[in-house]
Amino acid sequence: MKIVVIQGPNLNMLGVREQHIYGHMKLDDIHAQMEATAKQNHVDVEFFQSNLEGEIVDRIQECLGVADGIIINSAAYTHTSIAIRDALSAVKIPTIEVHLTNIHQREEFRHKSLIAPVASGQIIGMGPFGYHLAMMAMVQILKEIEAIRESQKKAAQEAQKKK
Ligand code: DQA
Repeated sequence: MKIVVIQGPNLNMLGVREQHIYGHMKLDDIHAQMEATAKQNHVDVEFFQSNLEGEIVDRIQECLGVADGIIINSAAYTHTSIAIRDALSAVKIPTIEVHLTNIHQREEFRHKSLIAPVASGQIIGMGPFGYHLAMMAMVQILKEIEAIRESQKKAAQEAQKKK
């Protein structure tokens, strides 16, 4: 199983950027924690950060046929990018949207997420811990998908035997 974590603009500045809002933790430290959780669950994980909308679209497209799950914090593009939403909708890979802050408690322009309708779920307002929760949730979602596939396979084999 492979999970790709995609981080949008200015998240490379975590630990420096408005610490009273986003906290002190650096992106590399968040990723190190996620990697440890992934390893414990025998899941491969890849990390990608970009400040450019088109690069994020490209990275999502590259997930097709390769990744089983996407965890994304599209940061400011969450509120503006139809292109990122369309890319997620196109690849149809289970996706969890993460935001460090509770976007609904903040300025009105942050209340709307264009990503939410194409995501399996959203984790917001939990700070860096939200990424850990997203990793746990994605592992669970992927295990459930795998279990469904296995039982469908078994049922098909049983049906074949009966013929
Ligand atoms: C954010 C919320 C966005 O509104 C903002 O533009 C960000 C970070 C969050 O993680 O809380 O850059 O996605």
